[in-house]
Amino acid sequence: MNQEIQRRTFIRTSAAAAVAGMAGCATGGAGGANTLALLGGTPVIAKDKQKDELDMFQWPRVNDAMRQASDRVLVGCKMSASDVSMEFEEKFAKWQGTKYALSFPNGTNSLNAAMYAIGLGAGDEMICTSMTYWASCIGALNLRASVVFCDIREDMEMDPASVEAHITPRTKAIMVVHYKSHPCDMDAIMAIAKKHHLRVIEDCSHAQGGLYKGKKLGTFGDVAGMSLMTFKSFSIGEGGMMVTDDYEIYRRAIRFGHYERIYKHWKPEELAGTFNVPFGAMKNRLNQCAAAIGLEQLKKYDREIAEIHQCKEYFYKGIADVKGISKIYPKWENSNKAGWYSSVSHFDSAAFCGISPQTFVAALRAETGTCCGYQFSMGCDFPLHASSAFYTSDIYHTGRPTNVETLPPGIDMKKLVGELPVASTIRNRIFCEPWFKKFRPEQIDRYVEAVHKVAANAAKLADWEKRQKKA
Ligand SMILES: Cc1ncc(COP(=O)(O)O)c(C=O)c1O
Repeated sequence: MNQEIQRRTFIRTSAAAAVAGMAGCATGGAGGANTLALLGGTPVIAKDKQKDELDMFQWPRVNDAMRQASDRVLVGCKMSASDVSMEFEEKFAKWQGTKYALSFPNGTNSLNAAMYAIGLGAGDEMICTSMTYWASCIGALNLRASVVFCDIREDMEMDPASVEAHITPRTKAIMVVHYKSHPCDMDAIMAIAKKHHLRVIEDCSHAQGGLYKGKKLGTFGDVAGMSLMTFKSFSIGEGGMMVTDDYEIYRRAIRFGHYERIYKHWKPEELAGTFNVPFGAMKNRLNQCAAAIGLEQLKKYDREIAEIHQCKEYFYKGIADVKGISKIYPKWENSNKAGWYSSVSHFDSAAFCGISPQTFVAALRAETGTCCGYQFSMGCDFPLHASSAFYTSDIYHTGRPTNVETLPPGIDMKKLVGELPVASTIRNRIFCEPWFKKFRPEQIDRYVEAVHKVAANAAKLADWEKRQKKA
């Protein structure tokens, strides 16, 4: 039997088994075909072969051109110069479709500079999605501004209705995060921003090159910042980029931490004798080895993410018959999850005999391995609105919680943020599917097979989960 016939036969039998497994839930029956690896069976990918999966998932895809480009910087001792970084910025801006790009040693600093550049400061509130990494917003506190969290939609993107509900007379900006590679509803958000005269910053750390209705993410708001660190889709090792069409924003970001460029963009009378002191107390120069790698990454990024897209489409086709798993993908035309960074799927526990996504993922990991963190994993960051850092922490020793320090007395931040039901609970309804990098159907089939196998054994997993809870 050739491989393709074997595969089709397998998918047919396991799909039937998945249905049988679900029927087994109602009767408390055993269900399932082969024994799961988590329960002592043989894994879909043999234990001694799991480490070989690294080649499929490793990221970024380092080539000779990247090594040589980085070497040239090293040999020339140009790590701390700016010529290669400026070339990277120029080419990145062209690729992004913005007038300006400014490089940073990391994404966190690019976002902090963007917040400063739009004029965020004391007494201002910035609305940010609760479901993001802390770097999207905590920098606002350094600027003596406050962060007010809003909720997300089931598809992970910022909920425009929740944004609007959190606007107060002090709101100055919205930090939009295209989280887990899913674009936010930019038409709705920009309309709200326009109506209330708010500035918009986009955090594109999870979605470099992504599209919303045919237009690149990072080109909707006043400015965008993003991480380019190793694990991101657009990866240069460690780095960040800010992009904008607004020269005033660009030069304010320079004043924040690109001290050696200040004199090029600010006239002596504007500097008023401050010389080149950066107002952000930051030194935001990118190591040029990373910039050189970035120049090479630009040449191949679009091609590489197109291949990732092909892998994901193939994977989803393979599991389309599994009830209880649904792809999360932008519903607008000409919109995508470019790069598919840390992409998540919906998981309906009821279709899997009530097991948690944690158990589901543990079973899948036992089948396929965990060689590099890019295979099946659990879903998302913890919701930031649950962190006491934004309610009670007196970070700067002023006697008031820092996040309300410059707001009028009596503002109850907990009340202002309120309940954010989706961000609080989404973790129980999602899991991260594997982040395949190379279109190798036979290899992806193993992961499809693992999903079918786990689905077929859901009843047994439910029993296992019960025993774990009791133990
Ligand atoms: C959404 C988001 N924003 C910002 C950052 C910060 O980027 P960096 O780690 O490069 O500072 C990250 C990093 O993981 C992130 O996930």
